[in-house]
Amino acid sequence: MTDVAAKPTDSLTVRDNRTGKEYDIAISDNTIAAKDLGQIRLTDDEPGLATYDPGFVNTASCRSAVTFIDGDKGILEYRGYPIEQLAEKSTFLEVAYLLINGELPTKEQYETWVHEITYHTFVHENVKEFVQGFRYDAHPMGMLMASVGALSTFYPDAVNISDAENRHMQMVRMIAKMPTLGAWAFRHAQGKPFVYPDNELSYTENFLSMLFRMSEQSYAADPRIAKALDVLLILHADHEQNCSTNAVRSVGSSQVDPYSAVAAGVAALYGPLHGGANEAVLRMLRRIGSKENIPAFIEGVKNGEEKLMGFGHRVYKNYDPRAKLIKKACDDVFEVTGVNPLLEIAQELEKIALEDEYFVKRRLYPNVDFYSGLIYEALQFPPEMFTVLFAIGRTPGWLAQWNELITDKEQKIARPKQIYTGDRQLTFVPAEERWA
Ligand code: ACO
Repeated sequence: MTDVAAKPTDSLTVRDNRTGKEYDIAISDNTIAAKDLGQIRLTDDEPGLATYDPGFVNTASCRSAVTFIDGDKGILEYRGYPIEQLAEKSTFLEVAYLLINGELPTKEQYETWVHEITYHTFVHENVKEFVQGFRYDAHPMGMLMASVGALSTFYPDAVNISDAENRHMQMVRMIAKMPTLGAWAFRHAQGKPFVYPDNELSYTENFLSMLFRMSEQSYAADPRIAKALDVLLILHADHEQNCSTNAVRSVGSSQVDPYSAVAAGVAALYGPLHGGANEAVLRMLRRIGSKENIPAFIEGVKNGEEKLMGFGHRVYKNYDPRAKLIKKACDDVFEVTGVNPLLEIAQELEKIALEDEYFVKRRLYPNVDFYSGLIYEALQFPPEMFTVLFAIGRTPGWLAQWNELITDKEQKIARPKQIYTGDRQLTFVPAEERWA
């Protein structure tokens, strides 16, 4: 408790009407420290006041200098650089460097970085056998989740997370190997032989080669396709404290190795409310089938029968800037592949939804997933692969956030509180007596 007259300006005065006591709680960065509420208690032997926040809708879990989002204005910046400029002028590997290291590389740093990533693209041969062990119809996200987690057994030294050089090596390995694991999951489902990395190619070209190469000596991707895929990876590279990043941070806070922490991120991303949404968008568009069916579909959404997938966002209450850039990338890809017929339905759906009061009132706009599935499909990816592409793009972001967590002295093992609603102090009756 403090003297109200002497309270500092950057503070919150809280009056507990149960006791009549007043407390002065410091405000810093427009937040209060939840632990400061702990001093507010009815009696000394009762727990202090806590906040209840399912889904962390209004709780900051960390300080972070990686990504800035202004959801109302539709702004996204990585390390201060606007996403539009990075998508237009940078490369995925440069963005990965930026996210992890906090600043843009010099020429020498960039060359070393690209060399390191390029020469860690191969995985141990046993990984191949492991991937081959999955059922023919295994979902590639399940395969990716398991295989990235399995990498922790190939690099047991990764557990030494307090050593910066060691962390750097694991981050390089993971960014390098994710495309290999993703491509092999894809080939496995198709019953095609695995293609080894081609280190003569750029990151994105090599990924396309591992996905699509058959008998040719070297795979030459159309540069417009390679560029579009690179842009898509950039757009997905980080998004501050989203569900999967929170999973990586939460699991990483136990000081487990980064492969296990990233496997948790892949698991979270798998869900249809997160990275799985673009797969759901395509299924939805296909189900709608033609423009005439859109009004009936929208009515169903408004009646709460289902969601308009690819719309709405926890943070963006404006057009997701990534959705705008993806819409633009659609044009480049469709120039090579021909227009995806579902595009027409998507555009009409967007138009109708953006004019409809239900969506306007709730500030629901297209998110990153609304158009990405259309491009991925045009690039010949089956829907199950969409989230794998997202995961490959998000890997540098997960790692940048994990690295930040490990070096943040304020961080602790994640361990939220609960409000207990169950029974207490029951007397256990053995089964044979209960069932007698
Ligand atoms: N379709 C219809 N109604 C929606 C939609 C939608 N896509 N999204 C939100 N709403 C409605 C909710 O029903 C709610 O309405 P109510 O106030 O009448 O109850 C209101 O809008 C607020 O929505 P919440 O669910 O409270 O928003 P929240 O922030 O919890 O959810 C989420 C965000 C999960 C993204 C949600 O908008 C959604 O489910 N969208 C569809 C799935 C999707 O596209 N996910 C991808 C997100 S981007 C990403 O993860 C990469």
